[in-house]
Amino acid sequence: MTSKNAEDPSTPESRRLERPAFDVLGRLVFAAAAFQTLRAACETGLLEQLLDATDGFDRDEIGTRVGLRGRWLDTLLTAAAATELIRRDHRGRYSVADEIAPAVRSAEWGLFTATVAFEHHFSYRGISKFTEALVRETNAGIENFPGRPGDSLYVRYGADPELRQVFYTYMRAWSRIGGPVLWDALVEIAPRRMLDIGGGDGVHAIAATSRLPGLEVTVLELPENADVARARIAEEGLADRVSVVGGDMFATPFPVGHDLVLFAHQLVIWTEEENLALLRRSNAALPLGGTVVIFSSMTDDSEDGPFIAAMASLYHTAIPVEGGRIYPWGAYEGWLRATGFGEVQRIRSDTWTPHGVIVAKKVAEV
Ligand SMILES: C[S@@+](CC[C@H](N)C(=O)[O-])C[C@H]1O[C@@H](n2cnc3c(N)ncnc32)[C@H](O)[C@@H]1O
Repeated sequence: MTSKNAEDPSTPESRRLERPAFDVLGRLVFAAAAFQTLRAACETGLLEQLLDATDGFDRDEIGTRVGLRGRWLDTLLTAAAATELIRRDHRGRYSVADEIAPAVRSAEWGLFTATVAFEHHFSYRGISKFTEALVRETNAGIENFPGRPGDSLYVRYGADPELRQVFYTYMRAWSRIGGPVLWDALVEIAPRRMLDIGGGDGVHAIAATSRLPGLEVTVLELPENADVARARIAEEGLADRVSVVGGDMFATPFPVGHDLVLFAHQLVIWTEEENLALLRRSNAALPLGGTVVIFSSMTDDSEDGPFIAAMASLYHTAIPVEGGRIYPWGAYEGWLRATGFGEVQRIRSDTWTPHGVIVAKKVAEV
């Protein structure tokens, strides 16, 4: 009879049963390493370089192209093959995995790599305190970004110009990946004067004015970040049609004279109470029949996905401000109806991201 080691409670039979479950969990335990493999593959140019390889590249050739050698190169190649980013054939030649190649070749690749940089510099840095955020019921991950207590991430990154640049490069990229569904909706609505709340670098103001010749836009942005939109809008030669107002969306009166209020990647930042306040402010600023448009990632009303929306929600819960999450469609629709809006319409995006648009009309004063 084999003696059972008291420190090893598993048996061959229990291991056989438990193995599939640990196989699933093992991929999650090492998800951070898989992400860093993707980041290294993006930042070294491994995937783009391998696109040139019609018959694959051998180890030394790809090493020369990405500027890595020895075990440093081998670690990356093995990890990239194991994560199915690249393929190593029986001759030891490397190429981009067939499933990945269309993305690397696409016009969207630079936008995707900006998203990878954001995940590294922002999300991973702060969501390491996701559990603490849940237990302490606060955005505990903000502590990993230097700044004064109470300051949001949007103020804190201002102290680090490089970090702010990573943020707005990503924000613009993410907005451009998901944006077509919003921009098509705006063309259909055809507003004359749009108020873009927390408009970032003006990506949607610029996209909308280039599609709607008569449109004028006011961007309301924190004074700390208003220069980003001003510079971009000047670069595009749109300063006569897009103005930027520095202010706090909760304290600064919403500028009047607009027939559409846009919240793009915005209501995910705030709590339910804050979102109700912002929608009431929108109601007060709009004429009857005026439009509110909400653009963001959305979770399904069944609250079990989609995967990217559910994962991105950790960032909103753990980092930028005290409140926030990626809300289900139905939450926004309920808040709109409670704040004098009706004729609510949902529009889903056909991109790989979980973006969507909600359009509603002001039907009552509140
Ligand atoms: C997630 S980004 C979205 C930017 C842009 N709407 C987009 O979709 O690309 C949020 C923006 O809201 C701004 N913001 C945060 N708090 C704000 C406040 N209280 N008042 C005005 N703008 C604010 C930030 O500076 C940041 O540029």
